[in-house]
Amino acid sequence: MNTVLVGLQWGDEGKGKIVDLLAPKYRHVVRFQGGNNAGHTLVIDGRKIALHLTPSGILSENAICIIGNGVVLDPAVLVEELADLEAWGVDDSRVKISDIAHVILPLHRQLDSSREKKRGDDPIGTTKRGIGPTYEDKIGRRGMRVCDFIDDEKRKTKFINLIESKGLELQDEETRYTLEDLETWAKPLADRIRPMTVDSAEILHKALDKDEGILFEGAQGTFLDIDHGSYPYVTSSNTVAGAACTGAGVGPTAIDSVVGVAKAYLTRVGAGPFPTELHGDTGEEIRTKGGEFGATTGRPRRCGWLDIPLLKKACKLNGVTHLCLTKLDVLTGFDPLPLCVAYENDQPVYEYMPGWKEDIVGIQSWEKLPENCKSYIERIEALAKQPVVLIGTGADRKHQVLRATIFNKTN
Ligand code: IMP
Repeated sequence: MNTVLVGLQWGDEGKGKIVDLLAPKYRHVVRFQGGNNAGHTLVIDGRKIALHLTPSGILSENAICIIGNGVVLDPAVLVEELADLEAWGVDDSRVKISDIAHVILPLHRQLDSSREKKRGDDPIGTTKRGIGPTYEDKIGRRGMRVCDFIDDEKRKTKFINLIESKGLELQDEETRYTLEDLETWAKPLADRIRPMTVDSAEILHKALDKDEGILFEGAQGTFLDIDHGSYPYVTSSNTVAGAACTGAGVGPTAIDSVVGVAKAYLTRVGAGPFPTELHGDTGEEIRTKGGEFGATTGRPRRCGWLDIPLLKKACKLNGVTHLCLTKLDVLTGFDPLPLCVAYENDQPVYEYMPGWKEDIVGIQSWEKLPENCKSYIERIEALAKQPVVLIGTGADRKHQVLRATIFNKTN
């Protein structure tokens, strides 16, 4: 079984916990887009470790964790993560990097920040990790790929060209990178990641031939997609399930299932349209109860009610086969519970569902959920025309109601 897992909203849907649940069932876990704009906190023996690049499968003992060609890779961030993992006793020899993934350089981070500044009152609200400028160089056919970065000669030539092409735009910056600066930064990183560099598509093709399971781990969410999102307030990669094919190097026929993750309400970090956004106390209450602060940047997330037209569209854009609804417990106590079911003149039209007061944290069976909670889920299923196969009822890994075999068999 080969599965793509994606977010159906604006990121932060709680994908990490579901990846953790699924990863042990697959031999390979692959990141296929984005970079360290993503964030996933793992808890090992009660201690926290934040992963931004390493696929979450790293904690399953036998999983091969691949950073695919579609990812943009900041080598400094990866090397730091590897050091953290090593310190925790996790064997990093299972981490493989595509030789044709593109590399985020200090110049890209600088460009990201300086462009945001130049947008003045209308920033995108990027994570300032250099994601956009790196993808720009990739599409502009002047980027630095991992295979260039680990080759001492090619790397220098690329640096010289990049410094020249970015010089004018960065001329007013306080830090002006020289070849020497960049080389001092790059050399030890290149030496560290060289042994991990592989033709990752080849590894995956062999896995497909042997019928070993592959989990494609998406980052961000559907409406941050460069094509299908709320442009220009988007990230610079395709985040939808189809990107797993181009970003990992497998054909569409390799994919058997698409797990889509949506939160029971909505959040967004950064700028851009958000029709069901709550600006007052209710939004604040959701933010506090849901701990809605960015894992990567710490920024408070904007909060609002679930938007069914968006959810339906996301299911179509991704070809979702398994819909997961996370953080239902955060909605306990809100009564009535508005659900945006349509739009009229661009304004959300709400249906009001009766709320529930019972604590649902940790509930693991459908029967034990309060009636109104079940009705809320059933209404979502009817409107979205998609059964909900996982219901999140709390922060712990075990806090969920599972309703599909994908969660209990070895793929
Ligand atoms: P960038 O990906 O850093 O260029 O940021 C572009 C937009 O995507 C901004 O609104 C970010 O807040 C948002 N974004 C990027 N990565 C994530 C994520 O992992 N979760 C939520 N939002 C994200």
